[in-house]
Amino acid sequence: MTVEFGFVPDLPAPAGKWSGFPKYNFIGGHNDAEHVPVAQLIAAATSVLQREGASLSTYGLNSGPLGYRPLRAFLVDKLKAHAGIICEPDEILITSGSLQGLDLVNSLLVKAGDTVLVEQDCYSGSLSRLARRGVNVTGIELDGGGLRMEALANALDALKHRGVRPKYIYTIPTVQNPTGTIMGEARRHELIGLSRAHGVPIFEDECYSDLIWDGRRPPALYALAAGDGVIHIGSFSKSISPALRVGYIVARWEVLSRILALKTDAGSGALEQMVLAEFCAAHFAEHVASLNRGLKGKLDTLMAALAEQFGTAAEFAAPPGGIFLWLKLPDGVDTAKLAEVALGEGIAINPGGEWSTDKAHGKSRLRLCFANPSKDTIRQGVAALAQVCHRQFGVPLRIANVARGGARPVTRRRGK
Ligand SMILES: Cc1ncc(COP(=O)(O)O)c(C=O)c1O
Repeated sequence: MTVEFGFVPDLPAPAGKWSGFPKYNFIGGHNDAEHVPVAQLIAAATSVLQREGASLSTYGLNSGPLGYRPLRAFLVDKLKAHAGIICEPDEILITSGSLQGLDLVNSLLVKAGDTVLVEQDCYSGSLSRLARRGVNVTGIELDGGGLRMEALANALDALKHRGVRPKYIYTIPTVQNPTGTIMGEARRHELIGLSRAHGVPIFEDECYSDLIWDGRRPPALYALAAGDGVIHIGSFSKSISPALRVGYIVARWEVLSRILALKTDAGSGALEQMVLAEFCAAHFAEHVASLNRGLKGKLDTLMAALAEQFGTAAEFAAPPGGIFLWLKLPDGVDTAKLAEVALGEGIAINPGGEWSTDKAHGKSRLRLCFANPSKDTIRQGVAALAQVCHRQFGVPLRIANVARGGARPVTRRRGK
C-alpha cells in the first residue's frame, strides 16, 4: 500500500526535472566557462587544505558562525577599495549565495501584507521571493541612471497618504539587473535622503558590481550612508563562479546579529570559502580584469548580431558592465510567447514580463545573458531567434539585411 505524505498547505508548484541546457542558452546568470580560473583554484585548494585542512573537523572552521575569517578579511579590504565601504569582519556574514542573503533579509524584515518598493524592471528571483511571502510590491520607474527619484518620492508620498510605511526600498544600483544601469553618486545621495525622510531602509543588492568595463563606479549606498539604514548583499557568483554558492551580507552588528540568528544551517560550505579566500587574496583583481575583457567581447558580439539580425526592431542601450542585455522589440511582440516557442527550438530567453512589476511594460522586452555561450553560439542563437520571432510576429521584417520572402539584400540609404 502506498503511504501518502501530508504536504503542508500553500507549497510552491513542484519543481520540474532538469533535462539539460538548451543549445542556445541566454537565460539565468551563468558565467563564462573559459574564465573560470581552474588552475589557480586547484592551487588555492591544495595550499589551503595543506595548511588548514584539519580545521574542517569543526563547524565554522575556527572562525565562528559568520564564516571563514580570511574570506571576511578579504571582503573588508575589497569593499573598502571598490565600494568605499568601511566595515569590520564581524559586520560580514558569509551566505550560501546572495540568494540566501535575500531570504535572510526577507525573513528579518517582511511578512505577508507588508509593502516593499522595488525597481520596476527587477531581478525575477527577488520578485518571486516577495510574491511567495505575500508581500505587496510597488515598482518604481527607472531611467538610464537607475531608480527615478521623482517616481520614488511620489510613491513614498502616496503610500504615506494611505498610512503605509514600506519595509524597504530594494535596489540594484550598480549594474542593475536587468537594465545594466549604474546609479550616479548624486542620485545615491538623494535616495538616502528619501529613505531617511520617510524612515524606510534601503536593501542594496550588488552582485554585479565587479563587472564594470572601465572599473569606475560610485561608492555603495552602504558606504554613503555609513551603514545607517542600509543592508548590503554581494556575491562571488558573477565575479568567479555561481556554482560555488558563496555570497555575503554586510550590515551593522545590531542588524547582522538578528540575521545571524535566522541562519540555521550551521555555516555555509567550508571548502568553497577556504578556496575563495586563498584564491582571491592573490588573484582577484587580475582575474576580474580578464573576465571583464572576455565579457565585453561577448557583449559586443551580441549587440552586433542583434543589429545584423533584428536591425532597428531591437532597441537597447549598451550596458557599462554585467552579463545581461535588456532589449525592447516592437509592441506587437509578446516575449512570453516568443520565449515559449523559441525554447521548443532550443533557444532560451528571459521574457520581460517575468523581470518587471509592470507586465505591460515587460511584455515586449526580454533579457539575454551573454556570459556563457561562445561568440559563435551567440551569433547562431540570435539568428535562430530572429527566425522564430519573424515567423511568430512578422518581426523583424528583414533578417540579416535580407527581406523575408524574397532573398533580396536591402541596401541602406545613405545618411540612414
Ligand atoms: C540581482 C541579483 N541578486 C542576487 C542573485 C543571486 O545570486 P547568487 O545567489 O548566485 O549570489 C542574482 C542572480 O542572478 C541577481 O541577479
